[in-house]
Amino acid sequence: MKETGPPEQPEAHISVMAGPAIEWLAIHPDGVYVDCTAGLGGHSEAIVRQLEGGRLIALDRDPEAVRRTTERLRPYPQATVICANYAALETVLDEAGVSQADGVLIDAGISSSQLDDPARGFTFQQDGPLDMRMNPGEGISAAELLARSDEAAIERILREYGDVRPVKRLAAGLTERARAGRLTTTAALVEAVQEILNVRHKIPEEVRTVFQALRIAVNAELEHLGTGLRQAAHRLRPGGRLVAIAFHSGEDRIVKQVFQELGRPRHERYPDGRTKRTIPPILRILTRGPVQPSRDEIARNPRSQSAKLRAAERLDNNGG
Ligand SMILES: C[S@@+](CC[C@H](N)C(=O)[O-])C[C@H]1O[C@@H](n2cnc3c(N)ncnc32)[C@H](O)[C@@H]1O
Repeated sequence: MKETGPPEQPEAHISVMAGPAIEWLAIHPDGVYVDCTAGLGGHSEAIVRQLEGGRLIALDRDPEAVRRTTERLRPYPQATVICANYAALETVLDEAGVSQADGVLIDAGISSSQLDDPARGFTFQQDGPLDMRMNPGEGISAAELLARSDEAAIERILREYGDVRPVKRLAAGLTERARAGRLTTTAALVEAVQEILNVRHKIPEEVRTVFQALRIAVNAELEHLGTGLRQAAHRLRPGGRLVAIAFHSGEDRIVKQVFQELGRPRHERYPDGRTKRTIPPILRILTRGPVQPSRDEIARNPRSQSAKLRAAERLDNNGG
């Protein structure tokens, strides 16, 4: 089913913006750093190479990514690789005996190895089971999600996570096919979108956005991102850095919102509206707007094109 069509999900990549990520982390050789999204281990290795006396905790929810990163970081005894979801970051750090970190990196989305393996079900370029779970041992596959959801839920997923259009037509067509047990492979999903949109000889752009929306829903990616960023901010020591790389507007919106929320004072109020107490901000935003990859990087790795990096620094407040 290799046909001409839109480029594959642009968020897949190998260590996008590694240079800027390392610069914004402003690594102290004796510090404690957390790479929440080890992936292929590229950023993790770049961090650990700068450590002398410091420690790296690298995690990923995908056991295969953990296996690869463990292998890659074998020469570095100061690295610990853990299979975990960064939405449980505080528990992971407690269990690793880390109370505060000097820097946390979240490089959201999926890795090129996840995308390129048809057996994982993320790619629309080759046929495979319609799975899309980052951790295949957790939750339900995209095929099951489609089969179990009603039309309104599928419409919401397509709209909120992919800005897919025409959303009603696609939601209705996919619901009908999923109920009939016809959406169990990636090829079947591609063909369904082609049929619904009446596009026969190429893969329409909507296929990319449908795949993206389903993947985000299957893995609860945006919810976990918000939780992970908040937990990371709370576990940084004053002066510690939080660096996040997003690959589509939904992710970047969450990063921006969480940074803004933690970067301004909060007012607790009495029922009559009077201020009870003002809780100081815990983050100082370092990047005025999103930092994007250089032209050189985009030329070398076109998948980096949509990346947006934001960085913040922990203030010496406990945030209430
Ligand atoms: C863009 S890749 C990271 C690539 C990595 N920085 C590198 O240098 O190779 C994103 C990785 O984050 C993982 N991931 C996504 N959401 C996660 C979550 N909530 N918790 C832990 N890992 C997650 C994915 O499994 C994937 O391996």
